[in-house]
Amino acid sequence: MCISNKIGPPVEGDDFFGRGKEIRNANRLLDRNHSLLLSAPRRIGKSSLAKRLIEEKQNQGWKCVYIDLEETTTEDGFLRLVVEAFKKNGIWKQLTEGMSKGLASVLDRIEKVSFGGIDFDIRIREEQEDLYKNLKELIKHDEDTLIVVDELTLFLGILNKRENGAEKVAFILNWLRSLRQVSKTKVRWLFCGSVGLRNFTSAMNLGYTINDLTEFGLDELTREEAIGLLTGLCKSEDMEMSENLVYYTLDKLHWNIPYFIQLIFSKLVEMYDGAISKESIDAAYNRLCSENFLNTWSERLSEYREYEAPARQILKSLSTQPAGMERNAMLDILMTGQGAAKIEEVDYTLSKVLEMLENDGYILKKDSIRAFRSPLLRDYWFNKFVQ
Ligand SMILES: Nc1ncnc2c1ncn2[C@@H]1O[C@H](COP(=O)(O)OP(=O)(O)O)[C@@H](O)[C@H]1O
Ligand SMILES: [Mg+2]
Repeated sequence: MCISNKIGPPVEGDDFFGRGKEIRNANRLLDRNHSLLLSAPRRIGKSSLAKRLIEEKQNQGWKCVYIDLEETTTEDGFLRLVVEAFKKNGIWKQLTEGMSKGLASVLDRIEKVSFGGIDFDIRIREEQEDLYKNLKELIKHDEDTLIVVDELTLFLGILNKRENGAEKVAFILNWLRSLRQVSKTKVRWLFCGSVGLRNFTSAMNLGYTINDLTEFGLDELTREEAIGLLTGLCKSEDMEMSENLVYYTLDKLHWNIPYFIQLIFSKLVEMYDGAISKESIDAAYNRLCSENFLNTWSERLSEYREYEAPARQILKSLSTQPAGMERNAMLDILMTGQGAAKIEEVDYTLSKVLEMLENDGYILKKDSIRAFRSPLLRDYWFNKFVQ
């Protein structure tokens, strides 16, 4: 079997490439009973890595669960996903003789939920607390288990905007924390998110609910891995690509996240006429910049709400300055047309915007200079919004 060109969804099995160091590191931490927090920009490869870890841990005999919170926007939905995923993977206890009536009745309701039957009624506060408490006691804490919760912050962010949102968010985070605090538990958690959970919780004074998690980073591939991925993709399509051209492509991308390598490769395949040259690589790259593949990077700025407009101003200017810009030059841009009295406010906005753009992988700070992290993204931005 060999790798195939996949663009967008998480990759699994033979399509997963590299990440050796990160996997070893994660395994080591999980084996030592750590629960992990993986925060990285979208499309870096978080979900793929999480799924690979699940594969490895399953092979070692662990029970594993993958819950994708991108699939829900309500608390009911959250509960349903958790209950069903735990049921499917044997995380809940079985009915036993000595079990209390409360637990037995919750188990009964779990059966109904997973057959598409009745929902839990969590509108009444006491019932809800009771239910979550019972669910906690139903988890088998004595078996090696890995539970991946993907896109937690995205979900909490949506919940937060609902009626009593802050309270709901606090409740869920505290519940998840209480599950990790069960004495001698062998259940480990991996929370993935493209929106920083640390920023989110600290802004809501809920930092304490995640301070037991070990931070885990993910960035571009190592040079060797990037070479291996591109070479492997070429092999899978029987395409010849010399070592020098592989280097040329990776240098051109500069930020070697697997997604961008997969993207440019898909263009090379489309245009392939028996040989790859520098010219065809340039043409593939230019096509990526001028087509819509990178639109999500623009669209998701709408999540910045009041910071969207200044973020766009900054990115637009940066797209014209490959060498990057000093902070003061960016402040000048945001101050254009504003009275001098506004400077403090605008300065704060700039700090906020720069932090968000850095966290989300748009830009990089080196010494006092900020620049686009990826030339591909910069050229796309220039094409789309300046030229
Ligand atoms: N280890 C990997 N090997 C090959 N391709 C990958 C790998 N990780 C990510 N990708 C590429 O990136 C895309 C997005 O990966 P994904 O795991 O969904 O990222 P995230 O969860 O961070 O948004 C995939 O569709 C694939 O093209
Ligand atoms: Mg993902």
